This record gives sequence, C-alpha cells and structure tokens, in this order.
Amino acid sequence: MRATTSSVALLALAANLAAAVPVKKPRWQHPVPDDYLVSLGPRPYYLVQNMTDSPLKQQLEACYNKPVGIHGWSIGHRGGGTLQIPEETTQSTEAGARMGAGVLECDVAFTSDLELVCRHDICDLHTTTDILLRPELAAKCRVPFTPANATSPANALCCTADITLAEYGTLCSKMDGFNRSATTVEAYQHGTPSFRTDLYNTCGQVMTLESYIDLVDSLPGYRNFTPELKTPPSAVPMPFKGYTQAQYARDMINTFVKKGIAAERVWPQSFNPADIYLWLNEFPQWGAQAVYLDEDADVASNYTAAVAKLPALKASGVNIIAPPYNYLLSVGGPNNDSIVPSMYATAAKEAGLDIIAWSFERSGPLDLVEENGDYYWSSVAPIVSYDGQVYEALDVLGREIGIIGMFSDWSATVSYYANCFDLAGPQGGKYY
Ligand SMILES: *[C@@H]1O[C@H](CO)[C@@H](O)[C@H](O)[C@H]1NC(C)=O
Ligand SMILES: *[C@@H]1O[C@H](CO)[C@@H](O)[C@H](O)[C@H]1NC(C)=O
Ligand SMILES: *[C@@H]1O[C@H](CO)[C@@H](O)[C@H](O)[C@H]1NC(C)=O
Ligand SMILES: *[C@@H]1O[C@H](CO)[C@@H](O)[C@H](O)[C@H]1NC(C)=O
Ligand SMILES: *[C@@H]1O[C@H](CO)[C@@H](O)[C@H](O)[C@H]1NC(C)=O
Repeated sequence: MRATTSSVALLALAANLAAAVPVKKPRWQHPVPDDYLVSLGPRPYYLVQNMTDSPLKQQLEACYNKPVGIHGWSIGHRGGGTLQIPEETTQSTEAGARMGAGVLECDVAFTSDLELVCRHDICDLHTTTDILLRPELAAKCRVPFTPANATSPANALCCTADITLAEYGTLCSKMDGFNRSATTVEAYQHGTPSFRTDLYNTCGQVMTLESYIDLVDSLPGYRNFTPELKTPPSAVPMPFKGYTQAQYARDMINTFVKKGIAAERVWPQSFNPADIYLWLNEFPQWGAQAVYLDEDADVASNYTAAVAKLPALKASGVNIIAPPYNYLLSVGGPNNDSIVPSMYATAAKEAGLDIIAWSFERSGPLDLVEENGDYYWSSVAPIVSYDGQVYEALDVLGREIGIIGMFSDWSATVSYYANCFDLAGPQGGKYY
C-alpha cells in the first residue's frame, strides 16, 4: 500500500491529491468564536507572584485581568496538558487548546500496518499505555516484560510498529513512567514524577494522525498543527517491511493534504535532516515551514560546532531552527547573575533563522533543577532556584531573543505571557 515510489511520481501524486481535495478556508475567513472561553487557571498567577520585584513583574501583574485569546506563540507540547494529563491524547490536546495554545503537537509514529498515529516515541507503549496489562497485545511486544531481580531492573519494549492500527485504537494512554523495581506488570505501571499527577490517569484517548487533524481542525477558534516525524530507534530498523523513512516523511504530509489542510497551517518537525530536505525538495510550501529540531549540542564539546553550522543551515533552505531552550540561555549580565541570550541564540538570529524552543513545564519546581541535573535549565542552573524565574527566562526567549513559538507541557504558562505582550507567533500574531 505504501511501497517506495520515485520522488517524481510522488510529486505528481502530491499535486494530484492537492488538486483533488479542496483546501479549507484560511484564518481570515474563519469565524471568530464569541462563545468560547480561553481559561488559564491559577498557575500563571502563582508564577508571577513568586517573581522578585522588577519591571517585568509589574508588566505581568498589569495583565492579571487582561482578556486572553488563542495565541500562536503558545505551542501545546504533546498536546499541551501534558504536565497533568496523559500525553498525545484527545484530553491533553483539548486541555492545551482550552489554555490558549494556537498550535498543537502530535508526534507521528507508525503501526505494523503502516498507519500513522500520535505517540512521542515509536517504542514507548510500555511506559505511556496499558499495553502490558493486555496479555494478547503484550504478547506482541518486541521485548516482553521481564521483572526486576537483584541484578537487573524491570524491562520491556513495546513499539507502535508491533501492533496494528485497530489494536492501537484499543489502548488506554497513561502518564509516562514506569517502576524499574517492579516484579509484576501491575507494579511496572507506576512511576509518574511527583510534580505531575495521576489525577487524570484514567484511560486517555489515543489519537491517530487523522483523528488529531480532525480534532484540532474542529476546535473553536483558529488552531494550527505541528506534527513531528519520529526517527525510529535501532529496535525498529528502517526500511520496516519495505517502508522507508522517505515514504514515511511523505505520508505524514500527504495526510494533511488529503484532509484539505493548507500548508500555511502546518509546521512539520524532525530531528532527521533528511526529512527536512525531503520536504523542502518535494513539498516546498510545507518545507518552508519545516522545523529543524537540533540536539547537536547535547554533548557540551559540540556546542561551538552546533553554533557554527547555523548559517549553512539557513543557506541550505532551512527557515526555522528548534533547539531546547537551554541552548538559547546563558548566565551573564554586569554581575554575572542574570539569564541572557546565548551565543547560539545570537548566531541563529544573525543567520536569519526563526527560532522555536522546547519545552516549558517539563522540569517541576525550579529549586530542584540544579540538584536533579535537569536538562532544560542546565545552562542557567547555578542561578535558578525559584519558580518565578520561569517568566524571567521566558522573557529572554520572547522579547530579547524574539523566538516565534514556545512549546509547553502546560499551555497556560506560555499563553499568559504571549497574551500579555501580544507576541508574534509563527504566523505573525494573535489569532483573534
Ligand atoms: C518564591 O518561592 C520561593 C520558594 O521556592 C520562596 O522562598 C520565595 O520567597 C518566593 N518569592 C516570592 C517573591 O514570593
Ligand atoms: C535477572 O534478570 C536478568 C534480565 O532479565 C537475567 O538475565 C538474569 O539471569 C536474572 N538474574 C537472576 C539471578 O535471576
Ligand atoms: C516499585 O516497585 C517496588 C517493587 O514492587 C515497590 O517496592 C515500590 O514501592 C514501587 N514504587 C512505586 C513508586 O510504586
Ligand atoms: C558531536 O560531534 C562529533 C564530531 O562532529 C559527532 O561525531 C557526534 O555525533 C556529535 N555528538 C552529538 C550528540 O551530536
Ligand atoms: C559567570 O558565571 C558562569 C557560571 O555561573 C561562569 O562559568 C563564568 O565564568 C562567569 N563569568 C564571569 C565573567 O565571571
């Protein structure tokens, strides 16, 4: 059904699909909902109250009662309610939408029958779903559950590619986590970090790429899409049953084409440069908004090289670079105690790249980030110790560096800031 075809034939196919399916109305023709309330809840207020006195704190306080709308700068990570609600589900997406996210994410994985579904990793079903509790499906896992013993932790590996679309649709999504000391599959289910919650761990509704598109397109207000094509781990070597990475990259875009979604509403992401260049070559309109995810500087000694490559990336056609926000922030200022833009941030801007950053609200209380060796705050950890600093960092990203979008596991935090300062999102501003 999805055999490899030459790119010429696929270009023709994409063109045919595009011609055959009417493209839906762009945003300026979308009705503005007057009966939909964006609701941010108490967290942004808690964060502002915890800031030390500063002009920024005063500006954020002045927005306490400002009406809030849907904002494109606020990007729902794995849905946008992920801090409390199982990721990549209908419920997380609806929560992110309610909290004002204008762009909602689905990470795209494939099933054994080569259908596309929303899952953060191709092989995370053992920690993000109840698959191990379902003997008939657990039996299909690439690595079955083995209990912990004196020398080895509990283990399992269950991949979307191990089961069919129909089987996938029967799973319950759960909070991502597991108990490495577990000796039973029941015990293995637990492991939600204490700053998240199991309150909504009640069978989250899994999504396919198509059901995600339908959901986001049906939400009140103008909402857009950021699908991320996942690179399969070594446990799922490509090509998989003849299915190539290139075909997978094409299928993701063609799913939007078939649904009549305009390219201007979609920011396709990938860590795999070949995916980005395939989109640029074969789907130029979609490639123009492709988001090049960068993790090259995760090894500190590679930071300089990661910065140095940015102009060449822009020259090769890439328009949007998306590093984790630790790459964009450093410690500096006159007393060397402030969060300031990093060399990477400055170089990306000088190269003419737009920047999207990931992901806020994945770290828990900030007083523990240094002790825990938290990834996202690593570049500024020595000067970070209280939650109000979330907005100091966000303001460096938003107004000093000028990033065009911020992923968050709790969309309210970013939506509050974006609404307060009316920041321009990837399409240049507030949606209504
Ligand atoms: C912010 O929270 C910390 C606890 O993490 C507390 O020590 C500090 O006093 C708070 N700051 C303000 C201004 O409320
Ligand atoms: C512990 O578990 C590992 C991995 O499942 C296994 O290879 C090993 O033989 C087990 N050790 C004992 C003492 O059972
Ligand atoms: C993890 O499993 C071990 C062994 O069953 C158990 O003692 C421990 O309490 C569990 N931890 C959590 C957080 O459930
Ligand atoms: C770091 O750079 C080296 C040399 O270019 C490269 O081989 C390696 O894959 C890089 N590591 C990461 C994590 O990007
Ligand atoms: C500023 O602080 C950082 C870490 O907190 C340190 O690496 C750097 O050397 C300091 N720079 C100056 C000029 O003191």
